[in-house]
Parts: sequence; C-alpha cells; structure tokens
Amino acid sequence: MPALENRERRILALLRESGGAALGVQDLLIQTGWTDQAHVVGAAMGLVEKEYASVEEQESSRVRLGPEGIKALQLGLLEKRMLDWLRSIEPEQRTMAALSAAFDKSESGPGVGLLRGLGAIIESGKLILSDQDRAEQEIEDRVEFIRSLAETTHLVSDSNKDMVAHFSNRRDLIEIENTITRSWKASQKGLNLNSEDLVESELIGELTPDILQGESWRSMEFKPFDIHAPAPIPLGGRPHPLQSLIDRIRAVFLEMGFSEITGNYVQSAGWNMDALFIPQDHPARTMQDTFYLAEPASLDIEHDRLSQWKDVHESGGSTTSRGWGGSFDVNESKKALLRTHTTVNTVRHIAENPSKPSRVFGVGRVFRQETIDRTHLPEFHQIEGIIHEQNASLPMLITTLRTFYSKMGYSDVRVRPAYFPYTEPSIEVEILWRGEWLELGGAGIFRPEVTQPLGTDWPVCAWGMGLERLAMLILGLDDIRELYQPDLEVLSKMPLL
Ligand code: PHE
Repeated sequence: MPALENRERRILALLRESGGAALGVQDLLIQTGWTDQAHVVGAAMGLVEKEYASVEEQESSRVRLGPEGIKALQLGLLEKRMLDWLRSIEPEQRTMAALSAAFDKSESGPGVGLLRGLGAIIESGKLILSDQDRAEQEIEDRVEFIRSLAETTHLVSDSNKDMVAHFSNRRDLIEIENTITRSWKASQKGLNLNSEDLVESELIGELTPDILQGESWRSMEFKPFDIHAPAPIPLGGRPHPLQSLIDRIRAVFLEMGFSEITGNYVQSAGWNMDALFIPQDHPARTMQDTFYLAEPASLDIEHDRLSQWKDVHESGGSTTSRGWGGSFDVNESKKALLRTHTTVNTVRHIAENPSKPSRVFGVGRVFRQETIDRTHLPEFHQIEGIIHEQNASLPMLITTLRTFYSKMGYSDVRVRPAYFPYTEPSIEVEILWRGEWLELGGAGIFRPEVTQPLGTDWPVCAWGMGLERLAMLILGLDDIRELYQPDLEVLSKMPLL
C-alpha cells in the first residue's frame, strides 16, 4: 500500500463514512474543521491519484456585471435611451442630424448599430423603427437582465444563455466566471482498506542526527517523497556546456592512458603545413582558407628543419618517396598564421620527443576562413591525438577511436577510406546517430615524408575530430551557432554533461 499522508487518511475516513454520498469541498471543510481549501483539495486529489477515491467535476459559469454594465445601470442601456429619445419626438424629426445633436459621437454610432440590430432602418436620412413593439420588448428584456445582475450573479443556464451570448459580444457589459465544482467518493479500493491504515500518525519529513542516534526511528513512519512534483529549478552557475564536454573528453583520454598537450594559436605555415607534407600549392593554404597574420608576418624556423622539409617536398628526402617535385620556398614556410588544425601540436610534440614513445591528446581551438552558417564557424575546436610507438598500427588506431566514442556514449563506430596529404592509409571516422552515419573526423598513419624529418622511424597513429559536431549531437542542437550564443536562458536549459 502506498503510504497515505495524514490529511489523506482523514479525508478518506470521511469519504468512507459518508454512506456512498459524494462530498464537496464545503462538506469536507466543515467536517474536518480545516480552514484551508487547498488542504482539502490536495488531500482528496492525492487519494484520487492513488485510486482510493474518485472525483466528479461539474463545470459551471456565472455571469456578473462588468464595468460598462455598472455604468448602464446608472445611465440606462444605450439602446433604451435611444428608444426613449425616438419616442419623445415626431417620426418626421427622427433625422440622423437630430440624433447626432442629441447624443455624443461615441454613442450615436454604436447606438444606431444596436437599433439596426433590432430592425431599424435608415431612409432618406431618417431613422425608422419598423417593428417598434418587438424592439421595445427586446430592449425591456435587456434592461431587466442587466438590472437583475445588480443584485446577484447568475448561473448561466438555458433560460438566460441567449441574453448572455448577446451581452458577451458587447465590450465590458458582463463578465463570465467559469468554476469547477468537485466532489469525491471513496472507491472500492478505498472502502476495502483496513481502518488501522487510516490512523493518523506523525510522519517524519527530515532525518535528524537525534533521530538516528536514538532508537525511535525504528517505529517511525517517513513521509514519502514525490519525485515527480514540480520544483523550481535553482539558477546556479554552471560551466558552459562546451566546456563541460571538453572536460569529459579530457577525462576519457586520461582514463585511456593519454597525456594532454597544448600549443599556440599562432604558428608558422612550416609547422602547420610543410611538416605535414601538405604541398605548398595546396588550395587550403591560400588566403581564402587560412588566416595569415600581418603582425608578426613571419616566424623563425631552424635552418635544419627547413632544409629537411625542402628535401622531402622536392624529392622525397631519404624516404622512398619522390616528393611533390617543383621548388620549395622557405619563405612560404616562415609565414605566420592562425593554426588551421591541431595536428600541428602533435607533430611538434614528436619533433621534440622523437625517440620517446608517447600517447598524447589535446582539445584546442582552430581557425579557418569559413562563412558562418548552420554548420560552419571560422573558429572551432578539434580533438587531436597520436600514438607514437614502435608497434603502432591501424587496428590500434581504430580500436582507440572506437573506445573513445563508446566511452562518450556512441558505440557504433565505423571507418571509411579517406585522403589526407599526411597519412597513409587515411580513414574517416563515422558514428551512428539516430540511424544515420555522421562523419566526425579524420585519422590515419603518418606518412614517412612526415615522420622521417621529425626524426622517428616508428609509425604514428594520428587523428583529428570535430568537437562542435559531437557537442551538437550530445546537446541535440541543429545549429552550431547556438553553442556560442551568450543567451543564459538557452544555456541554462541545455543538458548537464
Ligand atoms: N587534420 C585533419 C583535419 O583537420 C584531421 C586529421 C588529423 C587527419 C590527423 C588525419 C590525421 O581534418
């Protein structure tokens, strides 16, 4: 049996004693001696919810005078005053001009409208009441109705519903109040209950140290919690959802044994692109795609690095590759830019630790010249990582990415062949989301043209995934811009990650 509150016990006891009669709020107020109607209704409705009682609801409407109605009571209804005026003068003198002189502008128009509704017509500037008896009768009824409301409100019923409908169409003459009258009866389940279950007892709402230290808790009854009750949502501070997601990603990679690396936004084209064997005439290197800096316009790079890249790009260096051919421009390498991917961080990490096995990751901001739309921003984040060790392999890479996404809640991961200038083989990673495969990033094994100048012979598993795309899936957004709008209302409603 679900625990009943004391008030519910009291009300159910009364409903069981009523001999089958339904009890209303007033009855229950009197019988309980309570003063708060809400207590009666709350307890009775609680019983209905738990099926110990049934409720009957009767809707009714009452009509009362509105502000214009009260005025009409003092001045007379407009149509009544017009009728009186018409009756006071000869039919030939009932001209519109005379009417305008006798009534204020704000009344003459609506008044004529009302008389027309009662069969009046206007002929050669004169107002003619064709069926004066009928109009008089109807006006008398209206006057009587308004007058009757001076004393008391009326239940809307068949006998007055036409009058109510008429005055409802006239502004502020009457007001309608709808009420629901409820009454309750014990259900069979309520009648079957043992009387002992209805004995009121003290219910404990809060456990205190005192209670716990003594023995009394053994026999106490505890107040049930209604976990579905609407409660105000406290407006406390919280991390931005994107920040929460980054923290979660960090936790996942750390848990998988990776260490975190970071890097600068400002990089040279050499480290951002040449080190990755991206040909110097690659379209993504143009000003249309990449933000180059005016200040500093160029950055220094060690001479040895430059000549190694030059070698690899022009002829493959000491690898078996033939390179891209053409001539490599070291000034192009020195150009300063805003990093276009975080792969620059992992490459630099290998350059600094060429003979140390490493598993590192980073989540960082990158910059590309993109037109802002639903799925693109010129600044976004990548989730980057590498495994650099003697036995690194493609299956190891795929397993790592599968593990990462499944820890993030997406266990269906598939890879497809792809192309990047710096990896071979190259793959694209997709996850299954609501029946659709969505591409979340690229990965692969760095080419020898990349690793050889970095000073390592070990294979490198590398990946770079989109953060915002993942955030949109997790937060259920369909516009990337929503992630960057400082609308506290919207942000406070995003799910906690
Ligand atoms: N840098 C690639 C991008 O920005 C992703 C990538 C990283 C691909 C590492 C392969 C290896 O899309």
